[in-house]
Amino acid sequence: MIVVIGELNVDLIVSGTDVMPEWNREKLVDSFALALGSSSAITACALAGLGCEVQMVSVVGADQFGDYCLEQLRSKGVQTDYITRNPNLQTGVTLSLSTPKDRGLLTYMGSINAVAPEHLPAELLAQARHVHFGSFYLQDGMREHWSGVFQAVRQHGATTSFDTGWDVRNQWHREQIHALIADTDLFIPSEDELLHIYNVDSLEQVWGLLPDNRLGVAVKRGARGAVWSSGPSKELLAVNAFDIVPIDTTGAGDSFNAGIIYGYMAGMRDAELLQFANACGALATLAIGGVGRVSSVQDVELFRSTHALR
Ligand SMILES: Nc1ncnc2c1ncn2[C@@H]1O[C@H](COP(=O)(O)OP(=O)(O)OP(=O)(O)O)[C@@H](O)[C@H]1O
Ligand SMILES: [Mg+2]
Repeated sequence: MIVVIGELNVDLIVSGTDVMPEWNREKLVDSFALALGSSSAITACALAGLGCEVQMVSVVGADQFGDYCLEQLRSKGVQTDYITRNPNLQTGVTLSLSTPKDRGLLTYMGSINAVAPEHLPAELLAQARHVHFGSFYLQDGMREHWSGVFQAVRQHGATTSFDTGWDVRNQWHREQIHALIADTDLFIPSEDELLHIYNVDSLEQVWGLLPDNRLGVAVKRGARGAVWSSGPSKELLAVNAFDIVPIDTTGAGDSFNAGIIYGYMAGMRDAELLQFANACGALATLAIGGVGRVSSVQDVELFRSTHALR
């Protein structure tokens, strides 16, 4: 079983070629959708789509958006036994302004940062083969505790992974991330996030700064694909992205995470692993919302065999 510990929120996605608001004006946009948001939740759904048994640990409000998050998770096959309803909190919301090229996000925190160690029963962690969390920077209640959790689960043979997401407060917590990487089998940031964490201009400068005892680091680079650096060998491996025309890139990174986790647990390594994850990321861009299209292993294999790389 895979345990995903993380935030939950809904995404309100406004998409089109021009979604930039102008003060004191009204504009029409091409489309609008309500979707399950949250990096952790989208990765959980993508893992369930790939056939994994997934338990999500989270907190939502006792409101309609909380109901919606639970329904969505269940409909994608994610187990919700460890999701707490807190009547004193509103479920978090992200407003996403999305163009075919990029997107901007406005987030109301609500219950997003409410997960804390008290929500993590030891007996659940003892059953996990893998533990993942997304959104390092949004999960305020867990920030001090990740190393302890990861060390404990690795002691009984489980593997670990995390994604940082963007730091809304622009602090980047380099020392904490740097230390946590040593307890993390699969660290999966985007290139932009990694450059901010290490405060450098290019990936070439990052490799020497990563801890020597690092395990696997998979860096997401959007339409430029992904790079892998594994601790023991320190060799770099870059794989191009698939040549596709994305519809909405929401959740590409989170689906890529699921591809890396699933692939790694299934024994894939190196180029095969990166290509599998790139295909998961690319497939997620072909529908609106992070879980608009949840792919099975067969979907991913078919996509890989019928699409060229850039
Ligand atoms: N335009 C694209 N064309 C082809 N593949 C893409 C494209 N955008 C994303 N992907 C695939 O999805 C992976 C993850 O996307 P990306 O690098 O945008 O993650 P991210 O920055 O974490 O995104 P987010 O957190 O917004 O989902 C990429 O490494 C790539 O394989
Ligand atoms: Mg991301």
